[in-house]
Amino acid sequence: MKNIIIANWKCNPNSLKEAKKLYSDIVKNAKAKNTEVVVCAPFVYLSQLKGDNLGAQNVCMEEKGAFTGEVSVNMLKDIGVQYVILGHSERRKYFGENNIDINKKIKLCLQNNLTPILCIGETKQEFDLHQKPDVLETQLTEALKDIVKEGVEKIIVAYEPVWAIGTGENCSVQETLNSINFIKKIISELYDKKMSENVRVIYGGSVKSFNSGEYIKSGGVNGFLVGGASLDANEFSLIAKSAG
Ligand code: PGA
Repeated sequence: MKNIIIANWKCNPNSLKEAKKLYSDIVKNAKAKNTEVVVCAPFVYLSQLKGDNLGAQNVCMEEKGAFTGEVSVNMLKDIGVQYVILGHSERRKYFGENNIDINKKIKLCLQNNLTPILCIGETKQEFDLHQKPDVLETQLTEALKDIVKEGVEKIIVAYEPVWAIGTGENCSVQETLNSINFIKKIISELYDKKMSENVRVIYGGSVKSFNSGEYIKSGGVNGFLVGGASLDANEFSLIAKSAG
């Protein structure tokens, strides 16, 4: 199975010029053996970047219609986008997204051949209260509700502990390994063992080039979702190389 390294630019950079430069530097340099690289850029830049490794950071939960401010799966497909981040903790926290919305969006993406990158993860409070297993199980079970086997194997699951995102406080390799194994166990209970081996599970949360290699070696991950460090093409390229 190929590893996958995904850049999540979030609401950055400020101009199309910067976005084009960052994208071309990433495409040129972020290459590694047996590793896919994907860039999830803001909607407005996607049609301008022109590549076969582009992802969006969200999508409308309906196919079309009166949904002011939204962007649909068809619009993304039409401009060649292939991946969509869904259920990122920032969308859950600031935009009120819940597991039902996320489930709808996953289904729409799968029907339209877009690969969903499903983000799950516990908050600091949930972690301290030892609620991580319950949180992960609920998020996964509800997000995958009524999704058939053939769909699930296309999904990428990103384990992103909320307390590790953008904080510099990355999750330890052992804790990550435990979480990845737990996620695979849930998938195996919801589907079967083979499926749990086929689904790619990646890690996100303060990934930098100095710690990425350890996760690949001992953290049981199939790659990363990278926020802050994806805005620096050199740093991001080093992370990609560590996965190859
Ligand atoms: P970070 O963000 O790498 O800046 O912690 C990760 C993410 O939010 O996907």
